[in-house]
Amino acid sequence: DANPLVIFTPSGKRGRFPVGTPVLTAARQLGVDLDSVCGGRGICSKCQITPSFGDFPKHGVHVEKTALSDWNAVEQRYEDKRGLTPGRRLGCQAMVQSDVVIDVPAESQMHRQVVRKRVEAREIVMNPSTRLYYVEVEQPDMHEPSGDLERLVKALRSDWDLPDLEADIGVLKMLQPALRKGNWTVTCAVHLGDATFSPRIMHVWPGFYDGSIYGLAVDLGSTTIAAHLCDLQSGEVVASSGVMNPQIRFGEDLMSRVSYSMMNAGGADEMTRAVREGMNALFVQVATEAAIDRNLILDAVFVCNPVMHHLFLGIDPFELGQAPFALATSEAISLRAMELDLNLHPAARVYLLPCIAGHVGADAAAVALSEAPEQSEELLLVVDVGTNAEILLGNTKKVLACSSPTGPAFEGAQISSGQRAAPGAIERVQIDPATKAPRFQVIGSELWSDDPGFEAAVANTGVTGICGSGIIEMVAEMRLAGLLDGSGLIGSPEQTGSSHCFLDGRTHSYLLWDGTALGGPKITVTNRDIREIQMAKAALYSGARLLMDKFGVDRVDRVVLAGAFGAHISPKHAMVLGMIPDCPLDKVTSAGNAAGTGARIALLNTDARRDIETTVHNIHKIETAIEPRFQEHFVNASNIPNAVEPFRILRT
Ligand code: FES
Repeated sequence: DANPLVIFTPSGKRGRFPVGTPVLTAARQLGVDLDSVCGGRGICSKCQITPSFGDFPKHGVHVEKTALSDWNAVEQRYEDKRGLTPGRRLGCQAMVQSDVVIDVPAESQMHRQVVRKRVEAREIVMNPSTRLYYVEVEQPDMHEPSGDLERLVKALRSDWDLPDLEADIGVLKMLQPALRKGNWTVTCAVHLGDATFSPRIMHVWPGFYDGSIYGLAVDLGSTTIAAHLCDLQSGEVVASSGVMNPQIRFGEDLMSRVSYSMMNAGGADEMTRAVREGMNALFVQVATEAAIDRNLILDAVFVCNPVMHHLFLGIDPFELGQAPFALATSEAISLRAMELDLNLHPAARVYLLPCIAGHVGADAAAVALSEAPEQSEELLLVVDVGTNAEILLGNTKKVLACSSPTGPAFEGAQISSGQRAAPGAIERVQIDPATKAPRFQVIGSELWSDDPGFEAAVANTGVTGICGSGIIEMVAEMRLAGLLDGSGLIGSPEQTGSSHCFLDGRTHSYLLWDGTALGGPKITVTNRDIREIQMAKAALYSGARLLMDKFGVDRVDRVVLAGAFGAHISPKHAMVLGMIPDCPLDKVTSAGNAAGTGARIALLNTDARRDIETTVHNIHKIETAIEPRFQEHFVNASNIPNAVEPFRILRT
């Protein structure tokens, strides 16, 4: 074949094409992932490519500078208007002249990978359910009468290979003016369909629509609701924001909300209304932050625990408050945003991830989606720490899940000087093993409490209390410094040699900070605080340990700490405390808000939705409440560290 050879990188795909073939056409024929919204009309600039020149011994070609046709008028127009990155060409305009090597930059790939910092977690590859397509539509003809919608659907079918699309009344209303204003060209946002909805046109813009469309990844927690607004073309997070869950006024924790609905007629509806209102306020907030119209939000993915799941959908959570904790449905749910009173685009879609079990919700499914234990060769333990800890253990062979009632101590609640993580809260603690003197850092300042200038640095916030990650470090440091015995008892000043220990009623407490001279509080750790942390950590450990029993192992290869709180826990201190099973410290990582990331993955990639639906079916659920081994582990795990296994960290 004397036709020129075209080699695409990074895919390595190659083929011979006649002189004059547009690069976009060659790419499509070879199945190279090169983006296009305008279908090769030189309007969208999504098809940018970079030709390479010189010798390519590996490929056996020499590429002349003239391997592609000259810069044409369309590219010139684009350059004048917007400027093309130096070295780039429009793939739909540049034509093959001789052998050529062409690089498709990441941003020109339709299925581009959104960068994730952690290599061991799942990749995010763009494959959104809603996309933009530009088309030229035939004009109406008296001799062959047909509707504007039918001709639009025909054009989308022939140009883009789309199935026969349906359209809502909203699209029909905007279609005729858009077609005429755009001189018989329009850009359509098309939802490609799923198990619930057939493919359909969501919106039309006259001519070429130069903007983007957006989606929301929402982590609906019992305390806070966090939303990430994502560009559905680039995958970029363009704004993130959070609000307190307005349901808090009906009860701090989930069970008190379930009992509110039991005790009050219409209580569940009241809570449903409250959470949806809060959500709408949050959507206004993120759209304002990104300076976009809320009507451009066409898709939203929600992750939440089972009680929030039911209350958000308007389902009474009564059954979740009692054994056997039956969910109304554990399957994933697709519906219209309108059905949930959400103020997004009128045709916007909503997707809720499946729940794993009555105690292990769509938030845990989202963590599984983000961390992909089912794809891990190593045995992976994922712990999402909150009021309830959701725990996953698995590898490519199988995945187990349970939830464990840790209570709110890890969030700073039920701790005498505890508080939520906020500026002024102590989050890092060190105790000198020789002098037994403490030093600490508070959220909002880089300085340690014994650094010069510390008091001035925290003058605005003060030192207000100790947050969850602070209390974990505190207890672990106290144990390492010998201020605390293995049973969790704080020693006397004589026993410990520390003047920070003092008699406080019948037990001893430890004074971490006396802020009274500055008008602030005294921050102490009492024996009751230690007890609360012991209970919480024993619950967490026992859940993990139970899953290990069921798996038939006594070691895990890797531990991932998830959740906003998990992101701040020091792995070393968590292990000293015996929160998590023994594991090499360099194998303990933090995943940040993995549930939120899972929501983002499901938003940006529809295949990931199918993946997690299958994964969840295959996860084995373990109910901690009916497992006698859980209690056994719990009793053994309340010591610091646990009595059940030696901890390497204390041996070294
Ligand atoms: Fe749109 Fe080339 S495909 S500019």
